Amino acid sequence: MMNEVDLKILITGGAGFIGSHVVKLFVEKYSNYHIFNLDALTYAGNLENLKDIENKPNYTFIKGDITNETFVNELFNEHKFDSIIHLAAESHVDRSIKDPLAFVKTNVIGTMILLNAFKNTWNDNFSNKLFYHISTDEVYGTLGETGLFTETTSYNPNSPYSASKASSDHFVRAYGETYGMPYIITNCSNNYGQNQFPEKLIPLFINNIINNKPLPVYGDGNYTRDWLYVKDHAVAIDLVFHKGKNHETYNIGGFNEWKNIDLVKLLCQQMDEKLNRIIGASEKLITYVKDRPGHDLRYAIDASKINRELGWEPSVTFEEGLNKTIDWYSSNEEWLNSVTSGDYQLYYEKQYN
Ligand code: NAD
Ligand code: TYD
Repeated sequence: MMNEVDLKILITGGAGFIGSHVVKLFVEKYSNYHIFNLDALTYAGNLENLKDIENKPNYTFIKGDITNETFVNELFNEHKFDSIIHLAAESHVDRSIKDPLAFVKTNVIGTMILLNAFKNTWNDNFSNKLFYHISTDEVYGTLGETGLFTETTSYNPNSPYSASKASSDHFVRAYGETYGMPYIITNCSNNYGQNQFPEKLIPLFINNIINNKPLPVYGDGNYTRDWLYVKDHAVAIDLVFHKGKNHETYNIGGFNEWKNIDLVKLLCQQMDEKLNRIIGASEKLITYVKDRPGHDLRYAIDASKINRELGWEPSVTFEEGLNKTIDWYSSNEEWLNSVTSGDYQLYYEKQYN
């Protein structure tokens, strides 16, 4: 949808997991764009993720909070961003159960503040402008044993996290209908890969296996998620940004469903081989713990629309992606140590007691 002229693009949440991959892709691929990365550097944001590009001439990092309306408005007045790729969010379901209001503040109010700033900057002429909102498949709620989420599945969020993302999706759509604001929303399944904060299943379990700590599987482990390698998500975002249709939504997924317990066992096997441990050693760390309240049984994405209309498909197999991910965490101990000190310890104790 966007023409490839010189653009000023604001990427929010670009120091986080997915955001940092998107920022790197755009900065390296499009020297004619200027990429501004706005990030509050919460516990999930880390400038180490952006070391490769921090000195590029088409890149600017701005530390700031999207819930600070005055600051955001001043930033838009100064830079007049042509488009936004909005990834900043509180992103972890377990944290949303403990502190839902924090999720409303960033995910709903923060998104509203960005929508208003964008609208007020371009209201008279939205030509070649775009508000691209990055969302999740969790807005659809849960599936039973069969079926897939499509773009027309009704929203039915079950966690405070997914409710806050659903709410922000609705506001983006409403701004499109009410003010004619150009927007696209993509709803993606679970991402994995390097730089993911080790509170999410895959990096948490890799870190625990390295350290011989218990692997806390919620409930009976028979919950299903669809997993996508983060770099494939970043490629999809690039494609949607340039070729997606205004006022459309696209589901993005990995065609890669796993029951948690099967995924954990695969991870254990791969790590045993890599760490030269006796086969079965890591599986012994599996510990079934109290279930997550409101735990969605199954997510699975029908990604045929983005495949049919834009030609996107995942390029990295799960085996390959998992291998790369394990290798990255194993050789980036310093990164792991730096993010798992301090507040992380407190979170971990509270969450897993
Ligand atoms: P993340 O938690 O790793 O990163 C979020 C980033 O946002 C961090 O850098 C953080 O510092 C920043 N941030 C948080 N609050 C902010 C605020 N108030 N102002 C400015 N910056 C703030 O998240 P992620 O996993 O990279 O997810 C990015 C986006 O993709 C989110 O919108 C999430 O809902 C969506 N998403 C994630 C997944 C997934 O599997 N991780 C899947 C689908 C969609
Ligand atoms: P998570 O990585 O938190 O992603 P999401 O909840 O957004 O899908 O969790 C993925 C799955 O793994 C989910 O079914 C919950 C489960 N899980 C555990 O069993 N133990 C854990 O310690 C964590 C963090 C997640």
